Amino acid sequence: MTLDTIPRIALAALPTPLDEAPRLAAELGLSRLLVKRDDLTGLALGGNKARKLEYLMAEAIGQDADVVLTVGGPQSNHARMTAAAARKCGMEAIIFLGGLPEVRRMSGNLLLDTLFDADVRYSATARVPQLHKLMESEADLLRAEGRRPYCIPVGGSTPLGALGYVAAARELAAQLGTADRDCVIFVAVGSAGTIAGLQLGVKLFLPQAHVIGISVSRKAKPLKKEAARVASGSSELISAGVSFSPEDFAILDEHMGERYGIPCREGNDAILLAARTEGLVLDPVYTGKAMSGLISMARSGALDRNRTVVFFHTGGDPALFAFEDEFAGAARFRIV
Ligand SMILES: Cc1ncc(COP(=O)(O)O)c(C=O)c1O
Repeated sequence: MTLDTIPRIALAALPTPLDEAPRLAAELGLSRLLVKRDDLTGLALGGNKARKLEYLMAEAIGQDADVVLTVGGPQSNHARMTAAAARKCGMEAIIFLGGLPEVRRMSGNLLLDTLFDADVRYSATARVPQLHKLMESEADLLRAEGRRPYCIPVGGSTPLGALGYVAAARELAAQLGTADRDCVIFVAVGSAGTIAGLQLGVKLFLPQAHVIGISVSRKAKPLKKEAARVASGSSELISAGVSFSPEDFAILDEHMGERYGIPCREGNDAILLAARTEGLVLDPVYTGKAMSGLISMARSGALDRNRTVVFFHTGGDPALFAFEDEFAGAARFRIV
């Protein structure tokens, strides 16, 4: 199989735009900053999961699934987009979220889950491996009832799902001019499927580029290991003949703040700077923290100022609306 023969369905509006961000570039002393707008993939308000779901849902359809199961964090973008993709394919969705609902305020992604009528199961204590176990047990029950479940691990970060980002790297390569091809690409890292696919895609289609992942959840060491596993698996699926080790990945883990899902000062400042220089919307869980990594490296002189920087905007904007209190102090208004 090749990247173009593996079954894929159309869920995303592609290619996503590659926008100039000249005011933010000037603020950071960079000669050129481009934003790859995967927040505009279209499916259920957009985000990176649409690309992964194009391959995963094709497999679900191939298996004649009638219900899709997945897991995620308390404001999971992945779960929201999976629920939407399931509906678009005529299936139901059951999602297992780590965290308890704020029943008073089903805000952000939780509101969207409600619109898609996803069957949401919350667990305050479960971590990802336990959420996976809950999902698998539910799938067994469904099979016993004659249903046809399709399970998607956290973030859709399987070798098959990551192919979405191999294709994204090829798409980016086609959009970049010759002078920009030795760019530095920044991307948020959660379950590591996005960076895994990107790294493989860059190796195949944009070999001069350098990818830097900014972790929003775990330490760099386990993430690099996971990324190498997924990227090698993706390579195998498309017979690319490349294998990866953890050292092939550059992932920084000092920009996540206290922990996953908790906004931090650096990330919130990055959100305000991007909004106020470019009218660009980032979120406190993923892209704000990723942008804070880019900002910190640019300001400390760790980036070659003459090299084009590409910020991969992976979406996540709905989560911003679950954190409005974070920005209460930044509001400027008067009553007239
Ligand atoms: C908005 C956003 N950005 C980035 C990521 C990270 O992608 P991955 O989990 O593939 O590392 C996610 C994943 O949940 C996400 O929702």
